[in-house]
Amino acid sequence: MIGVAQGRKVGITGLGVHVPERVLTNAELATLVDTSDEWIIERTGIRERRIAADDEALTDIARPAAVSALADAELEARDIDLLVCATVTPDMMFPTSSALLADSLGAPDAAAYDLLAGCTGFVYAVAQAAAMVAAGLSQRALVVGGDVLSKILDWTDRSTLVLFGDGAGAVVLEPVEDGGFLGFELGADGGGGEHLWLPGSGSRKFNGDGRSLVKMNGREVFKFATRVMIYSAERVLEACGRTVEDIDVYVPHQANVRIINHATKKLGIPEEKVVVNVDRFGNTSSGSIPLALADAVSDGRLQPGALVLMTGMGAGLTWGSALVEWTDGARRQR
Ligand code: ACO
Repeated sequence: MIGVAQGRKVGITGLGVHVPERVLTNAELATLVDTSDEWIIERTGIRERRIAADDEALTDIARPAAVSALADAELEARDIDLLVCATVTPDMMFPTSSALLADSLGAPDAAAYDLLAGCTGFVYAVAQAAAMVAAGLSQRALVVGGDVLSKILDWTDRSTLVLFGDGAGAVVLEPVEDGGFLGFELGADGGGGEHLWLPGSGSRKFNGDGRSLVKMNGREVFKFATRVMIYSAERVLEACGRTVEDIDVYVPHQANVRIINHATKKLGIPEEKVVVNVDRFGNTSSGSIPLALADAVSDGRLQPGALVLMTGMGAGLTWGSALVEWTDGARRQR
């Protein structure tokens, strides 16, 4: 699916992120499975990741991110009329994490639902919420993206264990005077779903499954990722009448530095425009893109007017890109 933004201009007017306190280094992982700091850095670029405490669930890390995003937008939770939470690790299947968050934040009038699209969840959720605000179905939306993949990893499988971390982010979407979203490109290929899956996590029975844990064919996911990161970016740029040269900040999903480097090189985006924090957080799934956006705000790259390309990919298999002109918070329409 590819779409150029229509209706009211919609931008990001608030951003917040949160990660658990506990830092897990590669050296510590090497005491759990047969791996090494050198292998992990060379093959993935990851040095450390954050891991949720035993009693910390998705909404515990998503809530502080949402509170920060609302404060950044100078809004109260009750001002929000839509809350979408992208995650593959909700507190439980129901009630949804979005409904729990709406309640604990104090947004009683918000429509709230969870969205499942693997690591692409955040881009999918932003596309949906932006379209609702553009069409006037929502005035102010809160989009939360976060995961606590550590809870569903096989802690004896070195090929998945070293890649992932926990984290969350949130953005507020509102009508804006200038800039905002230009377009989206989203896709899915269930035929490749078996390369990254959680068998036994739903209504399908699997022989011999106890607890359902992440299973991945890393090489296949790597091939898929390097293909769709280019394909999706090129399609959204073309649909919006922009070129790679127009991009000021590139925010790729933080899965593996080799995937990011490959996409950056193939697309021809200069290194200084690329946001990379996979070294500090690993792959935080739906939290990855907002965490990277927050870094780009901190280092001063995300200035009003900057053209930002975000591309995610993940389980499904799914992928998605969003092209947005960064908005000056003060130029929101209220
Ligand atoms: N430490 C040491 N050795 C390891 C480890 C490890 N942690 N993991 C695998 N190996 C070994 C393998 O067993 C293999 O050994 P062998 O040659 O004796 O069989 C060797 O290292 C090479 O394995 P490869 O799989 O070929 O290594 P590769 O260079 O492809 O890197 C990796 C593996 C990092 C998993 C890579 O394939 C990758 O990043 N794939 C994409 C994964 C991804 O991004 N997933 C998330 C998608 S987003 C979402 O929705 C969650």
